[in-house]
Amino acid sequence: MEFSIKSGNPEKQRGACVVVGVFEPRKLTLAAELLDNAARGYLSELIRCGDMEGKAGTSLLLHKVPGILGERVLLIGLGKEKEFREKEYGEAIRCAVKTLNETGSFDGTLFLTEVPVRKRSVAWRIRQATIVAQETVYRFDRFKSKKDDVRRPLRKLTFAVERRNELAMGEAALAQGLAIGEGVSLAKNLGNLPANICTPGYLAETALNIAGEHGVGCQILERADMEALGMHSLLSVAGGSHQPPKLIVLQHQGGKAGEKPLVLVGKGITFDSGGISLKPGEGMDEMKYDMCGAASVLGVVKAVAQMKLPINLTAIVPATENMPGGSASRPGDIVTSMSGQTIEILNTDAEGRLILCDALTYAERFEPETVIDVATLTGACVVALGHVATGLFANDDKLARELLHAGNEAHDRAWQMPLWDDYQELLKSPFADMANIGGRWGGSVTAACFLSRFAKKFEWAHLDIAGTAWKSGADKGATGRPVPLLAHYLLKRCGQLN
Ligand code: BES
Ligand code: MN
Ligand code: ZN
Repeated sequence: MEFSIKSGNPEKQRGACVVVGVFEPRKLTLAAELLDNAARGYLSELIRCGDMEGKAGTSLLLHKVPGILGERVLLIGLGKEKEFREKEYGEAIRCAVKTLNETGSFDGTLFLTEVPVRKRSVAWRIRQATIVAQETVYRFDRFKSKKDDVRRPLRKLTFAVERRNELAMGEAALAQGLAIGEGVSLAKNLGNLPANICTPGYLAETALNIAGEHGVGCQILERADMEALGMHSLLSVAGGSHQPPKLIVLQHQGGKAGEKPLVLVGKGITFDSGGISLKPGEGMDEMKYDMCGAASVLGVVKAVAQMKLPINLTAIVPATENMPGGSASRPGDIVTSMSGQTIEILNTDAEGRLILCDALTYAERFEPETVIDVATLTGACVVALGHVATGLFANDDKLARELLHAGNEAHDRAWQMPLWDDYQELLKSPFADMANIGGRWGGSVTAACFLSRFAKKFEWAHLDIAGTAWKSGADKGATGRPVPLLAHYLLKRCGQLN
């Protein structure tokens, strides 16, 4: 889909469809009023007749409205004006794009981007609309022989700004929204691919493609490289799989030479069967999503490279399957991590931390200022926060605050969880430096505590996306989260979040 920004009057827009909002009850937005004036009260008459109350989620498509140049007018219900916030704004955009896409308009001009959202700028409204629009038309039908194609899909979307002097700002926000939207799409595609296709090797190929397209550096470490580095914790997880593990490194050098990089680490378990501590069968297919941390990190690098952000960003993705097999780890096995710390593997299904700990130690060689890992790490995090908030843990309060803020800004929210020392003792092992599980309670916290032992040399945050990376049920699919959160965090760091 093509996007553009425009300033102008709604009644003077030529093209297939002009989209304006109506608040509940029956209150026209500014742009809707302009249309109504040009149409000599045609819209207010319809509204008086009860055709559009303005309830959120409702819409009314009109043809040949008198006095205006566009072929159609689409009215979108916005709900009550006082309650019109970030979530409602996103839903209005989604409803508009969905309707346009399904009702034969090849193009649409959205005046919804002119509707004020409390405390949010014009740039925010444009950026957010661009991301939401791309999400709305996203499909994953690569493996459907018959695709249920939209007959006349939406091809061009124009966002209106009220004043000409907002155009430049709008264009910049649009470019950011496009880049973030593409990052989200990449993360969704990788997540949705089945594990027989999206293998560690496939993730490595994807990283190489991003590198080729955007001129970022890429290095793939093979099993032998990891052996030489002493990554026996990571390698122990790969033991049961026939798929060779990969350690993927991507480097975007947008900042000054010699400037310390920010490092993102993404959990890349392309399938988590649990290993010898095998998971129950029900819903196990969803463990193809156990590489969503990796997918989001790749999505962020793609977005950042496309935006050419002036920052040095390194992504590290440890990628492997977790399978049972003759060479798989057994419960009770003890391995030595790259850091030298020894780990008693009491449960082979707590594998995410076993690959992340070596990736965190590997991150040290980049002398990072900040490291953020992203992982579908624990079912316990889903119990704690459900599917709304990502779990956030950090050894630095400022970093935590900034990530929480970025999440609010992107409407891709996180919630901070404790990382207190009191939890550390749950990881005691009688035989090794630590166990890889902390018992029944506080599972997402003990998992984060485990990771913190490998993140002592830098400011570090951990995002547990077990509840937010994908949806189950009828609309099963990857969400692309937390690409928006991380992209907003990086934009803010670069002073480019308007
Ligand atoms: N990938 C899972 C976590 C997970 C489970 C994410 C369900 C989303 C939905 C992780 O590797 C895992 O299996 N964690 C175990 C840890 C336990 C053995 C300490 C869990 O959460 O049950
Ligand atoms: Mn597991
Ligand atoms: Zn896992």
